Amino acid sequence: MPTRPYVLLSAAMSIDGYLDDASPERLLLSNPADFDRVDQLRADCDAILVGSTTLRRDNPRLLVNDPDRRAARVAAGRSAHPLKVTLSARGDLSPELRFWHTGEQRLVYTTDQAAAGLRERLAGLAEVTGLGERVGLGALLDDLGRRGVGRLMVEGGGSVHTQFLAEGLADELQLAVAPLLVGHASAPRFVNPAKFPGGSGRRLRLLAARTVGDVVLLRYAPKESA
Ligand SMILES: NC(=O)c1ccc[n+]([C@@H]2O[C@H](COP(=O)([O-])OP(=O)(O)OC[C@H]3O[C@@H](n4cnc5c(N)ncnc54)[C@H](OP(=O)(O)O)[C@@H]3O)[C@@H](O)[C@H]2O)c1
Repeated sequence: MPTRPYVLLSAAMSIDGYLDDASPERLLLSNPADFDRVDQLRADCDAILVGSTTLRRDNPRLLVNDPDRRAARVAAGRSAHPLKVTLSARGDLSPELRFWHTGEQRLVYTTDQAAAGLRERLAGLAEVTGLGERVGLGALLDDLGRRGVGRLMVEGGGSVHTQFLAEGLADELQLAVAPLLVGHASAPRFVNPAKFPGGSGRRLRLLAARTVGDVVLLRYAPKESA
């Protein structure tokens, strides 16, 4: 069995538990100091994973923004930017997205059925890996482990966070709570309804809580109980 990476989930949410609002523009939840903290987290990881809806909706680049952090990675014999990873069952990913045209290596996990079409569409832009009839997160982590990924940062969205937590595959959760109330029923939530390990009575171990300007950063160890 390959060694799976350490899995760090990172999210910013409103007080009422939303990752975004329902408008077409991305809602900025963090403040500059917190974005800088997230940039350091990216610099410290080997790979960054996001769900396809986040790619389609936010069109993010997912890079290490600070030049000194990139230089430190290169000096340590690493790539300037972490490997960028996404997953899709439908394979509906436009080659125009910024994700494919920024950073260094890019990897897509999909089903065997969708893999051929996606390989054609993303030729020269990303490696496409089929993981069978469905994209299981355990198989995905095994594959990343085989590729030498020791530390994976998962940056959302809610569907992806939900699965990592429900399947007991997250080692750490860093949750930034921003002083906003979104209040849209159709906006994406940090997690969707799911059967989480231990149910609603299980208390996760809190590793740390601190303020970053007007944001509160909470760190949990989801595999450990209080
Ligand atoms: N505040 C934050 O920190 C933060 C961070 C990231 C995102 N967001 C927000 O979150 C929202 C998107 O969240 P979301 O929950 O709607 O979507 P998401 O988690 O970004 O992506 C879901 C999509 O990923 C693919 N996927 C997920 N699990 C899969 C699996 N096991 N196998 C195969 N494919 C899988 C599917 O793509 P296909 O449909 O292609 O099959 C699925 O529709 C956006 O509004 C974004 O702005 C906020």
